Amino acid sequence: MTEGNLRVAVTGGGGRLGVSVVTGLAAAGHEVISIDRHRHPTLPAQQIVADLTDNEAADAALAQARPEALVHLAAIAVPFTAPEHVILQTNTAIAFQTLQAAVAHGTSRILVASSPTPLGYGSPLGWQPDYLPIDEKHRLRPWNAYALSKMTMESIVAMFTAQYGDKIRLGSFRPCFVISPDEWNGAPTQQGHTVRERLDDPALAAVSLFNYVDARDAADFVDRWLRAAHQLPNGDVFFVGASDAMARRPLCELMPQFHPGTEELSAGLTGTAPAFSVAKAEALLGWRPKRSWRTELVDDVAADSDHHRSRSAV
Ligand SMILES: NC(=O)c1ccc[n+]([C@@H]2O[C@H](COP(=O)([O-])OP(=O)(O)OC[C@H]3O[C@@H](n4cnc5c(N)ncnc54)[C@H](O)[C@@H]3O)[C@@H](O)[C@H]2O)c1
Repeated sequence: MTEGNLRVAVTGGGGRLGVSVVTGLAAAGHEVISIDRHRHPTLPAQQIVADLTDNEAADAALAQARPEALVHLAAIAVPFTAPEHVILQTNTAIAFQTLQAAVAHGTSRILVASSPTPLGYGSPLGWQPDYLPIDEKHRLRPWNAYALSKMTMESIVAMFTAQYGDKIRLGSFRPCFVISPDEWNGAPTQQGHTVRERLDDPALAAVSLFNYVDARDAADFVDRWLRAAHQLPNGDVFFVGASDAMARRPLCELMPQFHPGTEELSAGLTGTAPAFSVAKAEALLGWRPKRSWRTELVDDVAADSDHHRSRSAV
């Protein structure tokens, strides 16, 4: 059984993922308050401008918002975009201070954005998964400060869970590479290139194992988690990804090409199968991603099947 609408604070509500989360939660009937360093021109929510690296500012923002639920997204969101020690300190300090303030001001449901990067893919020493598709039980081997900060944020969630037990419901989610609605129309993705460029050059998506998720589907996950929080195992982690891979060829072909040694592990990833399983979110929340590059880039899919038809006619 799921529960009704809530007063929800979303940190980082003005960001790539945050705008869709704020918009989706507001459309679902929640009262939403965005807490962000910058004011966003069009958010359908009350906005509080605060720098959450400042503990007093974080406390004042949560005291003002007094949310029943917190969705914590604010962070340095891209690896290597600041010095390593700054990324580690900033992301972990923001998370700890924001959660502490939320708890102090009566918040009883808290969902934190982690990332798949603690798995350790992209390591300069090479990396192979233990198994495919990857699920929440896979071991974590972070190799940079961003990935370590995300693993630490999951530990912060675990710490509050251990401290408060079932008085507070907590969880983390690991969104795959987020595609916001305007990025389907050609706006640059987080890595600076377009979605079509990512599909055309598999080396670009190979870095993150061809994972991705539409920001609106991630918002739907957040809504479901908030409503079901009291029925979920406390402190749990969820992968949130699309039901296909960001690739024009099956991963059983592409994974061994870009991640040597994965021939046997990836043999089952035929057709459009992704490298990440979202079976847990489906089983516990009934969540399934509704969108994929195949539903959002309709012209591209038509061109692709024309290409395959003309090749098979030869
Ligand atoms: N975009 C992705 O592909 C992706 C994938 C996995 C996880 N994540 C995580 O999801 C979250 C959101 O990512 P995003 O892509 O929307 O990032 P983003 O950079 O677009 O947005 C982050 C938002 O947080 C705000 N913010 C940053 N520092 C702040 C501070 N000190 N005080 C207040 N606000 C601050 C920024 O102003 C911005 O609006 C992050 O935690 C990120 O690590 C993102």
